[in-house]
Amino acid sequence: MKANMIIFTRSVQHLNRTINLPSVPYIIKQFSDGELYVKILRQAQDDWDDEKDIWIITSTQPPAENILELFFLLDALTRSGAQKINIIFSYFGYARQAIAQAGEARGAQVITQFLQQFPLNKIYIIHAHAAPVIHDLLNFTNIIDFDFFCNTSKEYDVIAAPDKGAAEFAQQVAQRCNKEFIALEKTRPEHERVLIQTIHGSVQDKKVLLVDDIISTGSTMIAAANVLKKSGALQVSAAATHGIFSQGSQEKLQTSELTKIYVTNSVNPTAGGKIEVYDIGKFIEKVIKSS
Ligand code: R5P
Repeated sequence: MKANMIIFTRSVQHLNRTINLPSVPYIIKQFSDGELYVKILRQAQDDWDDEKDIWIITSTQPPAENILELFFLLDALTRSGAQKINIIFSYFGYARQAIAQAGEARGAQVITQFLQQFPLNKIYIIHAHAAPVIHDLLNFTNIIDFDFFCNTSKEYDVIAAPDKGAAEFAQQVAQRCNKEFIALEKTRPEHERVLIQTIHGSVQDKKVLLVDDIISTGSTMIAAANVLKKSGALQVSAAATHGIFSQGSQEKLQTSELTKIYVTNSVNPTAGGKIEVYDIGKFIEKVIKSS
């Protein structure tokens, strides 16, 4: 009989872990010198019959040791005879480092090359950033919790894409959630500076929800909200799967034109003020149970 067992790594302990599946028993600790130690407490071959799927739920969020923990776990599981090992990344970072200039390290390539050392069954990434680039490096399935976007968009008239990169996704959200769609165009003259130049569509007296995969510095959503408000929007909010909220962004977002900022807990953001956090534990459970 097919059975599933799960492991939540330390980077995703905040997710709703009420999933009704047995956990793989393991020890993870730091030696007194700080080195990482991982041990799977299950060695007998018959415990891991090949009908048993192991699901590691993890993310690449800093500290970088979280990634080392994943590699140690994969090694320990493989060496103790686990047959079908699957990974769900609640967030797969380093995608913005996939394309590197001369002399720069390619973060995404390094991580994917390590992953390929292990005989993995399925890899899922929740709302992969730069999905086509990562697809060139890794065989994975991109999964998006559209319920999160449809629930948050209920009180809005229009779904808006803050830039070209988000347009295809935002259009999909609009279709699925039965909303009007508009697109914005942006340029990024410097890393943390964003210019929104064009709005394709009218937002006069409308409540607009901007959607994207990530909010990092917040510059994209803030610039988009400013332009939309100037163009007559009644209210502008933002929804993104990953609330990365890089240093200093929370304050900027809280004092911005945005009314609400909705994110999931893929990376454990802090709720408060305008920021509302939605748990994706149940979504992960659905993915595991329907695989
Ligand atoms: C393209 O740049 C991306 O899809 C996002 O718009 C971006 O990563 C969000 O970043 P930030 O919050 O720093 O503007």
